[in-house]
Amino acid sequence: MGRLKELRKYVDGKLNEMPDADKRNSAIAHLYGVSLAATMIAKKRGLDPEIASMAAMLHDLYAYESGSYDDHAHKGADLARDVLQELGLTTDEETDIICSAIYHHDDKLAVDSAMDECLKDADVIHHCMNDLSKEVKDKEKARFENLCKEFGMD
Ligand SMILES: [Fe+2]
Ligand SMILES: [Fe+2]
Repeated sequence: MGRLKELRKYVDGKLNEMPDADKRNSAIAHLYGVSLAATMIAKKRGLDPEIASMAAMLHDLYAYESGSYDDHAHKGADLARDVLQELGLTTDEETDIICSAIYHHDDKLAVDSAMDECLKDADVIHHCMNDLSKEVKDKEKARFENLCKEFGMD
């Protein structure tokens, strides 16, 4: 089994423990949606698409497990490190890259490392394109406009 598939199996197991069906379905749609967007953005920017996709699969897991978005990016980075160490799928360097991306993913107005930016942008793509009838949040507007330009969608 490839390591992305193995990580997804782990995440699927955790998501399947969510008791509320609507929240569970949204969580699955979001993590897989961001994972696909992260793969596309990483390929376009010459980053490792597998690492981008793995970061995306874990990025909001803390919020889904705890039921709270309070400081979920920072706490989620710690959770991701525990999960990755337990699964043993990544090198220490890859684990650091994934955890950094998760740590920074809620700082949408700041610019961080290339992989951090890939995850933020993938998150924004899913927030903004999952339902085009929904209004884009103020803090995501500039980022979404830049993504539309980058991908020739303006
Ligand atoms: Fe998040
Ligand atoms: Fe997210």
